[in-house]
Amino acid sequence: MNKPHIIKFPKIGNSIQGYISVAENDDLPFEVKRIYWTYFTPENVERGGHAHHDLAQILIAVSGKIIVTTQMPGEDEQRFILENADEGIYLPPYCWHIMKYSHNAVQMCIANMAYREDDYIRDYTIFQSIK
Ligand code: TYD
Repeated sequence: MNKPHIIKFPKIGNSIQGYISVAENDDLPFEVKRIYWTYFTPENVERGGHAHHDLAQILIAVSGKIIVTTQMPGEDEQRFILENADEGIYLPPYCWHIMKYSHNAVQMCIANMAYREDDYIRDYTIFQSIK
């Protein structure tokens, strides 16, 4: 489904031993090419505020809480809350996204391509003109 949606990962373990969650290429909507992570984001800061031509990614709150607001071209905004380490949000290409973080949030991002600044759409007016 090429719309933002929550992906559930396997959760192995128990409350006594702790847990492992795992993401393998065969279970993901794309082949993984890059992983990056975001941390120590002050609570008053909004990150994101862009879309991408080709980048698809999955954001996971491995710690803390992340509020993700998404919008596909011509559609209404949607709001997702990430606060479980065994789930993530899939963001397809052309998905405008904005993130707010709890102070302890660590966001892991699994991506389908290397970083390329020319893949970004950072101007909301240009995003709105996309059909
Ligand atoms: P950006 O993607 O705008 O961050 P966020 O979506 O979290 O707000 O990236 C912020 C800056 O970091 C920008 O100058 C590009 C740079 N950057 C890299 O150099 N490599 C990367 O893999 C990423 C994700 C960002």
